[in-house]
Amino acid sequence: GPVLCVVGARPNFMKMAPILRALAAHEPAIDVLLVHTGQHYDEKMSEQLFRDLRLPRPDINLEVGSGSHAVQTAEVMRRFEPLLDEHRPSCVLVVGDVNSTLACTLVAVKKNVPVAHVEAGLRSGDRAMPEEINRVLTDQVADRLYTTERSAADNLAREGIAPERVCFAGNVMIDSLLASREAARAPERTLAAHGFDPALLAQGYGVVTLHRPSNVDDPATLEALVRTLGEVAAQLPLVFALHPRTRGNIERFGLGSLLDSGRTVLLPPQGYLEMLGLMSQAKVLLTDSGGLQEESTALGIPCLTLRENTERPITVEQGTNTLVGRDHDAILQGVAQVLSGQGKQGRVPELWDGHAAERIAADLWQWLSPRAP
Ligand code: UD1
Repeated sequence: GPVLCVVGARPNFMKMAPILRALAAHEPAIDVLLVHTGQHYDEKMSEQLFRDLRLPRPDINLEVGSGSHAVQTAEVMRRFEPLLDEHRPSCVLVVGDVNSTLACTLVAVKKNVPVAHVEAGLRSGDRAMPEEINRVLTDQVADRLYTTERSAADNLAREGIAPERVCFAGNVMIDSLLASREAARAPERTLAAHGFDPALLAQGYGVVTLHRPSNVDDPATLEALVRTLGEVAAQLPLVFALHPRTRGNIERFGLGSLLDSGRTVLLPPQGYLEMLGLMSQAKVLLTDSGGLQEESTALGIPCLTLRENTERPITVEQGTNTLVGRDHDAILQGVAQVLSGQGKQGRVPELWDGHAAERIAADLWQWLSPRAP
């Protein structure tokens, strides 16, 4: 049967695109079905990224949409299960750490369908983070685990996972980045497309993204962060690409006025090529995203991560990432360093070389071969 590849939410798409290309280019070709759970469904959160990343249309869309964690996870499970009976896949391939990742993994293992997990073994150590639960549980029951950095194998070993299940393949998200760099959209064009004066970027700018519940769901926390960002903007113009959750909360909590100094550009969620263009030319990124920590390290751009921990420690150890938490002084100091030319320098980690997906395709073929009838 085919390899059933699962995507659900925005950060899955850039990981799956190079994998699908590598599976198609593999000789012999590996048969694939692409399933979109529909966890993310907005044009901006989903369809535009499919186009930017040259992802084929999903063969199946489960259209689960939003809901509480329980409802969303359960809906994915309920709708995913019949696909396994219908298509009899040789394995289910999941990426990342979103609710769809865990939901499809659980369904597959209980029906004795092997699961391959790409981006396994990352651990923040913070169980209050929904993604951490998804990571721990997915890795515990998945059969083949592809890792992006060496620390992941240590985490998995500590959790009792046999090293034979683990394969250090590199970072597929960086495959996408390197494949798309040429096509990145100029930041001036992105601003102009939204009615902002591109001249604002001329003296340099920073890029902001925020969407973690721990940062944006509590009114006092979000207000403090937005005030700090307002102070940063007084020194360096900021381009803020707003996740729907964050936009909604800024409106609900009445915080919009803190960002209307004329030095902050508020944009809707951006396409992949727009975001890549914005990041590539930025002086600094301020973010709570997992993906941006890695992308900034690959691009060599300083990143201030607005979290207390990271599941991607290599970006701090070798890359350009600094954990500043939500601390006002640490954030402003980080920006001051960048502005004085002292921003963190780094190097690109091992196997973040644009060929991770090819290594995964080759390994997957080997791994599945003995199982073929
Ligand atoms: C999910 C992932 C997170 C990832 C993020 C990237 C989980 C647990 N979280 O978080 O790891 O970093 O995606 O964006 O899986 N919404 C829309 N349109 C959409 C999708 C969501 O408006 O297309 C709004 C809805 O109000 C929804 C809220 O965003 O309730 C949250 O969406 P959800 O899929 O639950 O999680 P994210 O916060 O996006």
